[in-house]
Amino acid sequence: MSETVYLNGEFMPLDQARVPVLDRGFIFGDGVYEVIPVYSRRPFRLPQHLQRLARSLEAIRLAKPLADGERTRLIGDIIARYAGEDQSVYLQVTRGVAKRDHAFPKDAKPTVFVMSGPLVTPARELVESGVPCITGTDYRWLKCDVKSVSLLGNCLLRQSAADAGAAEIVLFRNGHLTEASASNVFVIRNGTLLSPPKTHLILPGITYDVVLELAAATGIPIELRAVPEAEVRSADELWLTSSTREVQAIASLDGKPVGTGKPGPVFRKLYQAFQDFKRKVMRQAA
Ligand SMILES: Cc1ncc(COP(=O)(O)O)c(C=O)c1O
Repeated sequence: MSETVYLNGEFMPLDQARVPVLDRGFIFGDGVYEVIPVYSRRPFRLPQHLQRLARSLEAIRLAKPLADGERTRLIGDIIARYAGEDQSVYLQVTRGVAKRDHAFPKDAKPTVFVMSGPLVTPARELVESGVPCITGTDYRWLKCDVKSVSLLGNCLLRQSAADAGAAEIVLFRNGHLTEASASNVFVIRNGTLLSPPKTHLILPGITYDVVLELAAATGIPIELRAVPEAEVRSADELWLTSSTREVQAIASLDGKPVGTGKPGPVFRKLYQAFQDFKRKVMRQAA
């Protein structure tokens, strides 16, 4: 049986949801999206995800198609209609259907689509072992802070990781770390947590913020600054973060072990803090 999704004001089975071919999301990749993790049927950091969606919409000059309360209710409805306890809610807004023309249509109605699926966080073995990654040049556009559905650059980069049997590709632009194809990257050197600051060159990850908060709370020193490639290549630890990966250690980079080649002590501390925090937040929401 196909799960229930939301499209433009109606709930329907996924296999019956249809978008016209002239939707600007299909023609131009003209839209934005969010992925919201749900634990025990409760959305995690929902206000922050909705704020980021609002910023993405503003950046592409698209008016909010739903009021804040409506969006929250809609996400609650989708969660309630999906079978799983832990879910991953996907929400997409495009500029709608219009005659093909690069300039914005005057009166198109945005297309709003929401679905949920299982939240697949890293298996225990991968938390224990870490994952292999490769590196690459960040050739994406200069508005990486917008969570755009135009993900061709990210897809090409991720495929080169997949071709190499790697979990992710760590990206450098002009000799400095940016992020990975679908995650933020943290570096540990001499016990200090380093990461690039939030600029137009990276997506402002919701998990990135959680990790920084937990690092501060557990006494891990933090430096948000440009991180040269050499500091990444000689790091004691490297981590990936995202809503579905949570926090995951990188075991090797381009075939060379990171530190000892096993998740390090700072990762283990932060990973535990993340799991404890998640449980605490979910208890409070209950
Ligand atoms: C390019 C990119 N960077 C970072 C992230 C992590 O963001 P978040 O922690 O909000 O999932 C994602 C998530 O999909 C992403 O696509």
